[in-house]
Order: sequence, then C-alpha cells, then structure tokens
Amino acid sequence: MRRASLEDIAQLASMCHSLWPDGSIQEHARELSRLLTVTASLMNRRELFRSMAAAAGAAITGVSWRATRTGAFSASQGAAYRPWREASESSGLYRALHAAILAASPHRHTNRGPFQSHRAVAGSALDAISRLNSEPDQIHVRFWTESPQQIRELMIAAAQAVIADRQQNRDSASWFRPTPEAIALHRDGTTIDAQGLSPVMTTVAKLLPGPSDSFADRVFLKRTREVYCGPGAIFGTILVKAPCSKSARVCVGRLWQRMHLWGTAHGIAMQPINQIHERIDREATSRASTTFTRDLSNLIGEPEWRGVFSFRMGYAQRPALPSPRRDLAACLI
Ligand SMILES: Cc1cc2nc3c(=O)[nH]c(=O)nc-3n(C[C@H](O)[C@H](O)[C@H](O)COP(=O)(O)O)c2cc1C
Repeated sequence: MRRASLEDIAQLASMCHSLWPDGSIQEHARELSRLLTVTASLMNRRELFRSMAAAAGAAITGVSWRATRTGAFSASQGAAYRPWREASESSGLYRALHAAILAASPHRHTNRGPFQSHRAVAGSALDAISRLNSEPDQIHVRFWTESPQQIRELMIAAAQAVIADRQQNRDSASWFRPTPEAIALHRDGTTIDAQGLSPVMTTVAKLLPGPSDSFADRVFLKRTREVYCGPGAIFGTILVKAPCSKSARVCVGRLWQRMHLWGTAHGIAMQPINQIHERIDREATSRASTTFTRDLSNLIGEPEWRGVFSFRMGYAQRPALPSPRRDLAACLI
C-alpha cells in the first residue's frame, strides 16, 4: 500500500466536504467517484475489499437506524396523526369537535402530487362548485379556463419572487416540518409525506440528510413549474370586493373548505397555491414593487374584484396523505 501523504489526506478531506451541502446530483456523483478513486489508490486490493465490506455493514446499520428514526417506511404515523384515527372512534359532541379539527372529513387532504393529464374537471363540476358560494355579492370564484397559461406564469413568477425575498422565504420555510420530532412538537405545517411525492421518493427524502436551503428552493421551484402548475389542472382564484375585511377573509376560508369537501366527495383533488397572494401581501407591507398586485389585477380585469386565494383542482395520480393535527384537548379553550 502506498502511504497516504498529507496532500492525499487534504484532497480526501476537501472532497468529503464538497459532497454536501450544495450542488446537483451529478456533481455529487462525480465527486463521490473521484473520492473512491483516490481512496482505492491508497490501498491494496485486500484492504480495499475489507474496507468496502465494513463500509457496507456500517451503511446498512446506519440506513436502518435512520429509517426507523425518520419513519421512512411508515407514512403519516405517530401521535400527531392520532386525531385522524380518533375521529371515527368518538361519539356525540366529541365526534363533532373531532370533525372540526379534520375540516369535517377524514378523507379531505391537500394534494400536492401530479394530476392526470388526460382527464379534465367537467364544466358541470365548476358550476356546482360556484354554487357553493353563499355570498355572491361579496365573493366570486374565477376559474381560469380561458387563460390558464397566464395564471400559471404568474404563479411560477410569484414562487420565484418568494424565493428571492430572503425574509419571506425564511418565514415560509419555517412552516415546513422536516423530521418526526418537529412534527410531534408542532403538530401542524407541511411534511415530507404531504408533498405528494411517489412512495419511493418519499422514503428517499426521509433517509437523506436535510437539504441545503438552495437545494430546497430549487426543488420547490421545479415542483411549482412541473407539478403544481403542470398538466391536468384547472386553476381558480377566489375574488372578494373587500380584501382587507377580516369577515370577508373568514367567508373565503369557509368557502374554500366547502369547495375542497365537495371536490373530495366527487373524487377531485385540490391544492391551494397562494404565492401570488403572499407576494401581494408582502408588497402592501414592504418596499417591494407592486408587480403582483398590478399583474393579478390586470388578469382579473374587473377593478372592483380582488384575488385573495388561488388553487388548482384535478384528478390526482395518487391519493394525498394526511397532515399532522393537534389533539382535541389542545384545541379546546
Ligand atoms: C390560507 C391558506 C393558504 C394555503 N396556501 C397553500 C399553498 O400556497 N400551497 C400549499 O401547498 N398549501 C397551502 N395551504 C394548505 C395548507 O398547507 C394545508 O391545509 C395544511 O398543510 C394542512 O394540510 P391538509 O389540508 O391536507 O389537512 C393553504 C391553506 C390555507 C388555509
């Protein structure tokens, strides 16, 4: 075996460092293969095989330990998901209160996965959803069936703007619960299980160490482009006449939940997509230019109506998983 020189060790150390936290998968793979080549040149064959066997054993133990810790093979399990089970076991007033925690249905989940591209929501379903609106003088649901490309582009641009705004991006990211510990502590927010990834990708995402911020941003933007604003969706925006009125906003929330429940009952998946409105709120409370306020208003084309909540709907490729909920006792005053 060639003795390792200080330069060799320094090279190894710098390669290990460059494996993470940033860079594309291809860059990581290239660095890993260079790392292995240098390691191999420092050892004879028997030592190399022995080391590889030891490394494989350690890797299997490590992966099993991490899989158990991160719940990689068990989706949406644990105390934070107990209300989903308890709802069907309770009765009387408790049953009604449980239903409130679950937004009335144990089947209603935000679906962030891909939609079926060949199957569109029928016009009759859009009419039925519009009829759920009990305040038509104050609230209106606009479906972007005529101009889906423009609202898509605005949604993607808003996601980019949120990412570019460091403060807003950080605030937004703080809503994400990446580990079982964070889920158990907060019992709210979004999780890896609720991202609508395939089962394999969900497992891989849980096994890998937490991504760097820039990698997470790139994934979010790619999913906004290709999945949230991807094929198979009808996009909609809920419009109000008084966007600053708290009671109007409560009515919008109530209407959205009604729409989502109606969709759930009819096999239609739904996801709020609110980066445009988050940017509009940011524009109103900071020095940011009023780009999205102006662009959405132009798209709506009716000055008395203002958009406050956007969403997509369609037929999902796979069902969505439940998100964490607090226990009933924690929600009672
Ligand atoms: C006002 C409001 C805005 C939301 N905006 C988004 C959004 O932009 N993107 C998204 O994926 N989910 C959005 N959601 C969905 C929540 O993240 C979701 O309701 C929460 O994670 C609980 O999951 P569940 O609805 O599946 O139970 C929004 C929900 C509300 C009430």
